[in-house]
Amino acid sequence: MDKSGGNGGQMVQVMLKERVRSRAAEAVTLQQDLPLGQILTGDCIEAMRSLPSASIDMIFADPPYNLQLGGDLARPDGSHVDAVTDAWDKFDSFATYDQFTREWLAEARRILKPNGSLWVIGSYHNIFRVGAAMQDMGFWILNDVVWRKANPMPNFKGTRFTNAHETLIWASMGEKAKYTFNYRTMKTLNDELQMRSDWVLPICGGQERIRKDGVKAHPTQKPEALLYRVMLATTKPGDVVLDPFFGTGTTGAVAKRLGREWIGCERESAYREVALERIELALPLDESAIATMQSPKSAPKVAFGALVETGWIAPGTVLTDKKRRMKATVLTDGSLASGADKGSIHSLGAKLQNAPACNGWTFWYLEHEGELKPVDAIRQLYLLATED
Ligand SMILES: C[S@@+](CC[C@H](N)C(=O)[O-])C[C@H]1O[C@@H](n2cnc3c(N)ncnc32)[C@H](O)[C@@H]1O
Repeated sequence: MDKSGGNGGQMVQVMLKERVRSRAAEAVTLQQDLPLGQILTGDCIEAMRSLPSASIDMIFADPPYNLQLGGDLARPDGSHVDAVTDAWDKFDSFATYDQFTREWLAEARRILKPNGSLWVIGSYHNIFRVGAAMQDMGFWILNDVVWRKANPMPNFKGTRFTNAHETLIWASMGEKAKYTFNYRTMKTLNDELQMRSDWVLPICGGQERIRKDGVKAHPTQKPEALLYRVMLATTKPGDVVLDPFFGTGTTGAVAKRLGREWIGCERESAYREVALERIELALPLDESAIATMQSPKSAPKVAFGALVETGWIAPGTVLTDKKRRMKATVLTDGSLASGADKGSIHSLGAKLQNAPACNGWTFWYLEHEGELKPVDAIRQLYLLATED
């Protein structure tokens, strides 16, 4: 890059580059301190206490439902209905459940980064209590998502509606907090229609359902499709996702496939074993497949002139196209000149190619640290250095 942008510009550039370097170093150190790819044993509240503050990008929690089942359930033919009757789902009272909820939410809040987000899934037994606690503690609800089960279990007694959905709450750290939402990715996933908050997905069954000696390994294994959508929508590749109620490790398996880092907490050793075996077998997708389309809304908004003003690209710098057939000089106001022609990076690029339009960010190149780079690469460096 041309360094003749004047002292002010050069100083800003040096300071910004230093900020990029130190932020990147901090992020690497923080990730190195985390037990990535591990399931922490014992109680999740204690386990989360061992993690550094503000270190996690997203938490997905599928806590005990506190199902208030009144005795065994049977089908009309007398056969037994599998339901959650395990000790981990039993609480003495709503008050005990609320206290537990507030304790794990407090730790979740401490370890989430300021721009992180929290997902909690639950049923009518617990989700309203969890939602109220989240709001009381400062989380800001962004959406509640209804997971409509394509194949729900019937209401065998015929005394109520078929319970055909679960609710997910998605929240940021506060009203003004930033968070990741891959809008464009979701729209693409949904055949170019905005993704809605009602998701129709089958419950976990068939090959996906883990069984040991023909018996379900876990009563509430979630479908991978659900986690796939959650993670694709609200995390970036390389982000750290934590699941305090790991069960069979659905979160870990999907994170591995999608190139995200994961940490689990699970107090039952039998579930931990199942989860580790399962994640071992999960195949990570190729990096090129993990890339997604970027949302025009979230695309960085920065004028070419801002790079000139701040000395990232100095006036007088010569830009070329990738094959060095066309040349233009950067002017002080951020426009380009080529012979008698002048214009923005986009309009001049279009004019020189005799094309109706041109994306100047990817058309124009410059020498940067001995390599020919598109000006978009400099824009990315600038954005990295100036993001809050
Ligand atoms: C609803 S299940 C989660 C199922 C999981 N999403 C899956 O797809 O397999 C809740 C899990 O949390 C675990 N659990 C409950 N209370 C816990 C606690 N205090 N600390 C750690 N794990 C806990 C249970 O053993 C159970 O496996």
